[in-house]
Amino acid sequence: MGLFLDTCLGKDLGNKSKIPIWMMRQAGRYLPEYLKEREKITDFIEFCLTPDVVTKVTLQPMDRFDFDAAIIFSDILIIPHSLGQKVWFEAGHGPRLSNIPGVFIPNWEENMAKVYQGIKQTREALPSNKSLIGFAGSPWTLAAYMVCQNKIESKENLYKALKNHNIDELIKKLIPTVATHLVNQVKAGCDVVQLFDSWAMLCEPKDIKSQILDPLKQILELFWSQCPGVPFVYYGREISHLYDDLIAIQGPLILGFDQSAPLVRLTACERVTQGNLDPDVLIAGGDPLKRSVEDILRATEGKSHIFNLGHGIKPETPIKHVEEMIECVRGG
Ligand code: CP3
Repeated sequence: MGLFLDTCLGKDLGNKSKIPIWMMRQAGRYLPEYLKEREKITDFIEFCLTPDVVTKVTLQPMDRFDFDAAIIFSDILIIPHSLGQKVWFEAGHGPRLSNIPGVFIPNWEENMAKVYQGIKQTREALPSNKSLIGFAGSPWTLAAYMVCQNKIESKENLYKALKNHNIDELIKKLIPTVATHLVNQVKAGCDVVQLFDSWAMLCEPKDIKSQILDPLKQILELFWSQCPGVPFVYYGREISHLYDDLIAIQGPLILGFDQSAPLVRLTACERVTQGNLDPDVLIAGGDPLKRSVEDILRATEGKSHIFNLGHGIKPETPIKHVEEMIECVRGG
């Protein structure tokens, strides 16, 4: 239990002193203690598959900021990797992927054993009032990386790459994999899961139903059939106007808002909400940060809201500004 889980389940009508807080990408390059660990293992995938290291870096932001939830240190690209599509990261460039294999590795779950071991160890080390979040990329966002084989720079790049692939077929194959990976993370010790749909805004409007909304509903059905009652956060970038379509879904679905979503959308959302603080405002700090935090708190007053950024924290963010943000949410 704890504040984060209670809020996910809509149990707590957040007043200002009772708002859970965590940050997307909270274990990462803005932390000197993270960079120190990264220096020791230069291969990022190997880093993600070393349980002791995963536990250590997952707990780093908890030790420093006492967040209400930890997110397991891993990456959305661990799924293509486990299916047999090689993934590597080039400094200053971002992710690179080999060709999509003709046949996916059927026993891909075995390639995830170290991820699940890291979750088990982290859950054991975390106090019981702190939640552990597991995650995966959405089929659409994973498929986008898998066909681009690169960082996704532009819509043109993605659409050119899509020409050479049967994207609907790929998404169909990824649905059970994503759902199973989320279920396995709960079995290993995660309390909540989050689906990252970071490239949702690049989906053509005519395809949003078949490539984003229907796969999400299928994943929810598969996930809750095995993990009934476990909270599920859906984070889609720049598509919060479509969230009205998700209101009818039965179950603890939390909606994550990026920074492009106007505050009125959070206020009107008949679900538990999360996010919305602009990571660039966090970099700026000072009065603009204070005002943005207060605006979000005001817009979500009286409803269940999880304080978070609208996207991952950027490496150049001053740690002092993270402290200011937390102070403003918890004490200010
Ligand atoms: O949130 C956390 O603290 C948990 C760890 C986490 C990472 N990636 C660690 C990571 C999570 C939840 C992710 C999700 C992820 N990975 C997403 C969805 C969220 C988003 O930001 O949109 C995406 C799109 C990826 C794919 C990916 N992995 C990218 C684009 C990059 C950045 C490449 C770069 O060099 O800028 C990564 C690498 C990565 N994943 C890093 C971290 C801390 C940085 C790599 C490093 O430490 O050298």
